[in-house]
This record gives sequence, C-alpha cells and structure tokens, in this order.
Amino acid sequence: MSTDTETSTAGHPGAGAAFIELDRLEKVFDVRRRTGFLRGERRQVRAVDGISFRVERGEMVGYIGPNGAGKSTTIKMLTGILTPSGGSLRVAGIDPSRERTRLAHRIGVVFGQRTTLWWDLPLRDSYRLMHRMYRVPDARFRANLDRCVELLDLGELLDVPVRQLSLGQRMRGDIAAALLHDPEVLYLDEPTIGLDVVSKAKVRQFLRDLNAERGTTVLLTTHDLTDIEQLCSRVMVIDHGRLMYDGALAGLHEVGESERTLVVDLERELPPIRLESEPSVRTVKVEGPRQWLAFPASASAAPLVARIAAEYPLADLSVREPDIEAVIAKMYARERPGEPVT
Ligand SMILES: Nc1ncnc2c1ncn2[C@@H]1O[C@H](COP(=O)(O)OP(=O)(O)OP(=O)(O)O)[C@@H](O)[C@H]1O
Ligand SMILES: [Mg+2]
Repeated sequence: MSTDTETSTAGHPGAGAAFIELDRLEKVFDVRRRTGFLRGERRQVRAVDGISFRVERGEMVGYIGPNGAGKSTTIKMLTGILTPSGGSLRVAGIDPSRERTRLAHRIGVVFGQRTTLWWDLPLRDSYRLMHRMYRVPDARFRANLDRCVELLDLGELLDVPVRQLSLGQRMRGDIAAALLHDPEVLYLDEPTIGLDVVSKAKVRQFLRDLNAERGTTVLLTTHDLTDIEQLCSRVMVIDHGRLMYDGALAGLHEVGESERTLVVDLERELPPIRLESEPSVRTVKVEGPRQWLAFPASASAAPLVARIAAEYPLADLSVREPDIEAVIAKMYARERPGEPVT
C-alpha cells in the first residue's frame, strides 16, 4: 500500500466522499469528417454524456458496454489524459486533469490495446525506468517486482525486448508495470483481450489476489463477461455515453433476460433434445451430433447437464456465456417502453 496520506481537497469534504466520484461527467469530441475534396463537416460526438457514479475503496467494478460506448474515454478522464467537457470528477480527492502527475503516483493503468512499455527495451529495463520515474523505494520495488514475476510468470521474459513478446506475454508485462509503484487504484481497459484460456485464468487469479491482499480498487473494462463474473461483484453498463445499469451481475442477467448456451455433443445424430423437466430450456440449433441448448443465464447448468446425461448418450459438452452486446441489446429493447432500469 502507498504511504501517502489521504488527501482532502478544498470544497470536497473527506467525510462521505467516495474513492472515485463522477458527477454528470461529459466528454464531447469535435470531429471533422471529409465529405469531398476540400469539403468537410463538423460534428460533435458525445462520447460520455452525463455519467455519475461512486466507487468505494477496495471495490472491484466491471465497466462494460458495446464498442464506442465511451468506456475508454471515461478511463482516460479518470487518469487525467483527457479533460472533461462538463461535470466533475475526483479520484482519491484529486481532480485528475488538474493534477495528473500527483495522481499518477496513486493509480495504475493497463490499456490492453496499447503498451506502456518501451518497445525496444527488455522488460527488466522498462521496469527500471519506472522505478526511477515513480521514485519507488528500492526494497519496495524489488518486493513488488518479485511478486509480479512469480505470480505472472515473467521470469523467463525479463530479458526479452518487448517487441519480441507475444500479446499475452506483453499483457502480463504491462500489468506488472502498472503495479510496481503500489497504486491504490488500477484501471484495466481490456486486460484479457487476445489472451488464451490459461493466460486469462492466470491474470484473473492475480487480480483477485491483488484485490484481496492489498485492497487495490479495480475498474475493469472488458468484452468478456467471464472476467466480470469471476472478478466483480458490481458491474456498470454504459451505452452511448450513458449509464444504463449499475448493480450485481446477476441482476443484469435478469434485466437483460440473457441466456447461456449449452453445447452438447451426443454420440450420434438424434432429433432435437427435449427435456420435460426443464421447460425453460430450448434447443436452438442442431448440426449432426452437436446440439445447442439455450437456458436462462441466471440458472445453474448443473441440473440440466445431469438430466441430459441421464437421458441421452452424451459424449462431451461445454457452456457458452452470453455476450455483453446481446445482453445490452435486450436490456435496451426492454427499457424503451419506459421501464426504468436500476
Ligand atoms: N480522440 C477522439 N476524437 C474523436 N472521437 C473520439 C475520440 N476518442 C473516442 N472518440 C469517440 O467517442 C466514442 C467513445 O469511444 P471510446 O473509445 O470511449 O469507446 P469504448 O467504449 O472504449 O469502445 P471499445 O469497446 O470499442 O473500446 C466513439 O464514438 C469514438 O469514436
Ligand atoms: Mg475502448
């Protein structure tokens, strides 16, 4: 943990203030689009359109939504990279765009799509530079590095230039880089993008431990609902720059009436599976011996699997999670008739 004392800023009373606080935050981009030779039109994009929320210290929150929803723009404002067009924002009592450098010592950021490491340098040298930049005490730095190397399996990679790392290796390197200065909050913008199943599991376990042992506050953006399911007790959904949902993941499934899919491989081709005892299950597709069964995401797959195994010649199966886009699309469709989503 950082040895910094809690900052209390004038006009922002310490009591009752959350660790991260957004109040009707806005970001409007002016974009010019070429419509012809020497001709163009100006347009405004409301990337973040009045978002308010509070995150308490130690929370792990999922921040999800479809492409272009405004997630990365929010994170850029939270780190001070972008200045808001309206509303207000505080992280640990600090206004990020006004005091970006002071805030930098207390936050860590991982942009899955882009590295913060030096492309031509071995990982070890990038970390050394960060050690100096953040003025981390030597013993602290070594302890943090050792821990990251062990838990993220970086031992073999420390002397490899970043450009030679695979995407998954580079991502683990980036996560370590974001943590060497003991940040109190970690923003992760798609940290599992392009990772294989084993690397994803490793990264998730690492983040869970970090949160449990150090109380690091985590804001996580992802298109993989499993990340959220395994890490976050709370999820916020944004679409078109607005907050559509803030609550438990289970509640999101209910609101979005989302479904998971059981992919069943039978030993031979059979007519569509029908289970009298499970009326909410529908067989949605049959392809040779493989069948796809949709069932409510809020239900457990276990009894369903047991029934199928008892009644059909089962060879193999797997469960597919609903994708966030589908959940949001349904939520959106349902919200339109004037039904508020909470
Ligand atoms: N620098 C910029 N200039 C102009 N428009 C921008 C800029 N950055 C983002 N936008 C626009 O703002 C909107 C929100 O973009 P943002 O990157 O925040 O989305 P996102 O939720 O992170 O999406 P994704 O899931 O694809 O990463 C998009 O319409 C995007 O085109
Ligand atoms: Mg993004």
